[in-house]
Amino acid sequence: MVKTAAEVCPLCEGTGWKTLPERPSAPKDRRVTRCDCRLRARNQTLLAAARIPKRYEHCELASYTTDFPGANATLAFAHLSAAKFAQEYDPRDGTGLLIIGKIGTGKTHLAVGITKELILSKGISCLFYDYRELLKEIQNSYNATVQTTELDVLRPVFEIDVLVLDELGAVKPTEWVWDTVSLILNTRYNDNRTTIITTNFEDQPAAGVSGSASRVARAESLGDRIGERMRSRLHEMCRIIKMEGTDFRQTFRSASFR
Ligand SMILES: Nc1ncnc2c1ncn2[C@@H]1O[C@H](COP(=O)(O)OP(=O)(O)O)[C@@H](O)[C@H]1O
Ligand SMILES: [Mg+2]
Ligand SMILES: [Zn+2]
Repeated sequence: MVKTAAEVCPLCEGTGWKTLPERPSAPKDRRVTRCDCRLRARNQTLLAAARIPKRYEHCELASYTTDFPGANATLAFAHLSAAKFAQEYDPRDGTGLLIIGKIGTGKTHLAVGITKELILSKGISCLFYDYRELLKEIQNSYNATVQTTELDVLRPVFEIDVLVLDELGAVKPTEWVWDTVSLILNTRYNDNRTTIITTNFEDQPAAGVSGSASRVARAESLGDRIGERMRSRLHEMCRIIKMEGTDFRQTFRSASFR
C-alpha cells in the first residue's frame, strides 16, 4: 500500500527509528532510537488492550477536580496519592492501592486515571476488570459449550503488570467466590504484581471476628464480603486510600439547578 505524505512520520520517514543528536565526543557515532511514532502506536495498543469500559474512557487524573463547594478534604489527598502512585510506579515493588469509599466519590475515575497515566507515559501493561464481570466470565468458562477455559480468562489476570479490580466485594459471597478471589489475589501477591482495587465496602472485619460490632445491626463490611483472610492479605498488598463525601454526580446535578 502506498502511503500518503500525511501518514509518513516526518521524524523517521516511516522507518520507526530516529537518529539521536550528534555527540561532540563521538561525532561519527550516530546512534538511533525507537521513534516517537512507534512508541505512540505501542501505547495505543496497550490502551486498547487494557479494556477500560466506554463509560470510564473520559477519566483522567488531570480531569479529577477537588475544587467544588463542599469537596471533602480526603478527595484532594486521594487525588494526590493517585498521581504520586502513577509517577513513582516501580514494577519491582508490587505494592498496589486499595481505594475505599461510597459510590460516586470518584474511586473508579482515579483508578482509570492511574491506568492511563501508566500506559501512556510509561508503557506499562494494564488490565481493567469489574469484579462482577470477571467472576461472571470465569463462571461462564465452565459452560461446556463455551470455547474459553477458566485459565484463558485467568492467565491475563494473573500475569498483567497492573490489574485494576473495580468494585471488589460487589458479588454476594459464596464459597466459590471466596476461593476465586483468594486464588487471584494470592497469585498476584506471590508474584509481586501490582493490583489497584476499588470497593464500596468499609475496611472492617467480618461479623463475628473479635473487635467487630457483630451484635449491633450494621452494614456489611469488606471482611464479610471477601473473607477476613483476604482482607488482611489486601493490607499486605496495598496502600489504603479512603475517600469520603457524597456522590459527585448528585452534587453537580443539584448545583446545576440552583
Ligand atoms: N472529583 C471528581 N472530578 C471529576 N469527575 C468526577 C469526580 N468524582 C467523580 N467524578 C465523575 O463522576 C462519575 C462517578 O465517579 P466514579 O469514579 O464512577 O465513582 P465511584 O467509582 O467512586 O463510584 C464518573 O463519571 C467520574 O468521572
Ligand atoms: Mg466505581
Ligand atoms: Zn516516526
